[in-house]
Amino acid sequence: MKRILSGIQPTGSLNIGTYLGSVKNFVKLQDDMPDYEFFIFIADLHAITVPKDRQKLRGLIKELAALYVACGLDPNRVNLFIQSEVPAHAQMAYLLQCNSYIGELERMTQFKDKAQKQQTNGVTVGLFTYPTLMAADILLYDAEFVPVGHDQKQHLELTRDIAERVNNKYNDIFTVPKPLIAKKGARIKSLKNPNKKMSKSDDNIKSRINLLDDENVIKARIRSAVTDSIGIVQYDEENQPGLANLMTIYSVITNKSFDEIEMLYKDKGYKEFKEDLGEIVYQELKPIQERYNELINSKELNDILDQGQEKAFKVSMKKLRKLKHRIGLGRNR
Ligand code: AMP
Ligand code: TRP
Repeated sequence: MKRILSGIQPTGSLNIGTYLGSVKNFVKLQDDMPDYEFFIFIADLHAITVPKDRQKLRGLIKELAALYVACGLDPNRVNLFIQSEVPAHAQMAYLLQCNSYIGELERMTQFKDKAQKQQTNGVTVGLFTYPTLMAADILLYDAEFVPVGHDQKQHLELTRDIAERVNNKYNDIFTVPKPLIAKKGARIKSLKNPNKKMSKSDDNIKSRINLLDDENVIKARIRSAVTDSIGIVQYDEENQPGLANLMTIYSVITNKSFDEIEMLYKDKGYKEFKEDLGEIVYQELKPIQERYNELINSKELNDILDQGQEKAFKVSMKKLRKLKHRIGLGRNR
């Protein structure tokens, strides 16, 4: 069975950047690619590579699980699970670490960025080996495609290198995965600084819209989003990066092209454009929030996660056992 796999870290409430760049795409793929089996998980082991408060972490794991379903992932189509509940991930990561080099991990730009922010706390070894855990997540399931945002491209390339290396050494054990990067929406920017990606960890909460924000907050955030003094609604990433970002959000939600949006606002200003966009974002998020509220404390959600865990456990253990055997670990049974 061909497989598609992806994960998101429970490091903060989900925002529309991750939603439009990632979750919405998962939902589309589950419908467009009926021949594939899906594994979508909550990357909680990745989240602890930088210090986390335990209550908060637990809440965010559950929130992300409920949001996956509320956003439209169908538990009958997709195996949804929590990474730390499937022990093969951490074990496979170790085996891959023994097939990775310090030099290649040192080159990861996300590590360099995150390490810099951890100067006062100290940089954990887990932060450094993070990409090998991500490679383990992917390779355990023989995922052919991995839908991710643009920022994960380098990690995917490393995963491919590791897979090829292990395949050469231990006789073709892994499928070499390919990234699936949605063209539009793959890089939604901060509403306050269009040179940065919209991020769960940005100190300025006005830089993002979270999926669970209420109507007033959503509309206020769009209204106060940074634009420019040119005043014409047109897609020009270089000279009007803030507006280009808002147009991307508009386009990904409504499926309208930039040309169509330009036509619609031909004789109108940013104010009307922003008012409309606020409403569009709110209407997109409203049904998600309603479904979320039904799910968050339900037995249904627990059952979905149990079912996902069981399936992930079986598939991943098989692969782990196979590699251990090929390496020569344990007894020959
Ligand atoms: P993370 O939230 O860092 O675990 O990322 C989860 C997924 O969402 C990854 O595939 C990211 O590439 C993607 N993603 C995160 N932030 C954004 C953003 N601002 N725009 C588009 N995609 C994003
Ligand atoms: N590293 C990814 C991120 O920060 C999350 C992630 C962990 C992931 N494991 C993965 C994504 C496996 C795809 C496949 O966004």
